[in-house]
Amino acid sequence: MAGILRNYADYLPVTKNTPGLTLHEGSTPLLFAPRLSERLDLELHFKYEGLNPTGSFKDRGMVMAVAKAVEEGSHTIMCASTGNTSASAAAYAARANINCFVLIPDGHIALGKLAQAMIYGAKIMAIKGNFDEALSIVKEITSKESITLVNSLNPYRLEGQKTAAFEVCDDLMGAPDILAIPVGNAGNISAYWKGFNEYYQSGVIDKLPQMFGFQASGAAPIVRGSIVQNPETVATAIRIGNPASWEKAEEALESSRGLIDEVTDEEILEAYHLLASMEGIFAEPASAASFAGIIKLKQQGRIEAGKKVVCVLTGNGLKDPDSAIQKAAVQPWKVNNDYDEVLNAIRQLAGD
Ligand code: F0G
Repeated sequence: MAGILRNYADYLPVTKNTPGLTLHEGSTPLLFAPRLSERLDLELHFKYEGLNPTGSFKDRGMVMAVAKAVEEGSHTIMCASTGNTSASAAAYAARANINCFVLIPDGHIALGKLAQAMIYGAKIMAIKGNFDEALSIVKEITSKESITLVNSLNPYRLEGQKTAAFEVCDDLMGAPDILAIPVGNAGNISAYWKGFNEYYQSGVIDKLPQMFGFQASGAAPIVRGSIVQNPETVATAIRIGNPASWEKAEEALESSRGLIDEVTDEEILEAYHLLASMEGIFAEPASAASFAGIIKLKQQGRIEAGKKVVCVLTGNGLKDPDSAIQKAAVQPWKVNNDYDEVLNAIRQLAGD
């Protein structure tokens, strides 16, 4: 089996006319984290979405949205993006042989994501403005021109993305107690909630998880209850001040008896570092917001010991090498091409 359109066809709007588009998205690992579980006194699992074909969860929604666009006769797609959506849209457009336009906030997307959109052949425009402003232009253009919008306002995006919730339940043979997830435009939290509900209604799982969403402190409109005009965070993927799926996310939080909270850039980077150094999992900073939130709430005594928690890690750390190099704050030692010097360096480094 390959790809979410085949694996979960029964739950998706797949018809006999839907092209069998795939880059083998989905089927990402749910990694149990033994050391961090012990440290936090929880049963912690990480849904590592960074192992999708373009390195983020967006591929699940994009394969569905692009397949439907092609089925409906569209030749051009467009999105606004903080980076991952544009990388994914560009890849699936290349695969489906259609055109792709992307609008990004100039200077605020991680290098790897820009590289991806470029090499997959998207037509890229960078605006002097933020994601929210880019999205508003894209919404208007796609409503007037024959160009398909592939941001998560396109309902097929959430359909595809809900398959991650199915995989979590399939792997755990049930639902977790808590699903922790970073929140930007709020599409993914809404998609997971939809997925859990569909599995619940089909009788595959017998309880629903609580949904815990986390925003970066400098970009936390849902936490604050009002639009943030100039969102700012090191986690550029979730640098969003006016989420498109705000209401859907509120619904998920309320009906799951969940919560939304904020984490500072320091807390995000600390969680990011712990994941890599203690569990060997390299996720991008925005992804680590889910885990940062769990650390914070556990320390505040707001999560009971022993709970089964799944943190969604939305994107691959390799997308943003600059953040890793800055956070690790260690440079390779420069040593001469000489046996004794290398051995000497090993002795000194081992003592660190
Ligand atoms: N994590 C990563 C790595 C993301 O790229 C995004 C969103 C999110 C979390 C938040 O997901 O928007 O569904 O709440 N990235 C979008 C983009 C905005 O353009 O790539 P959300």
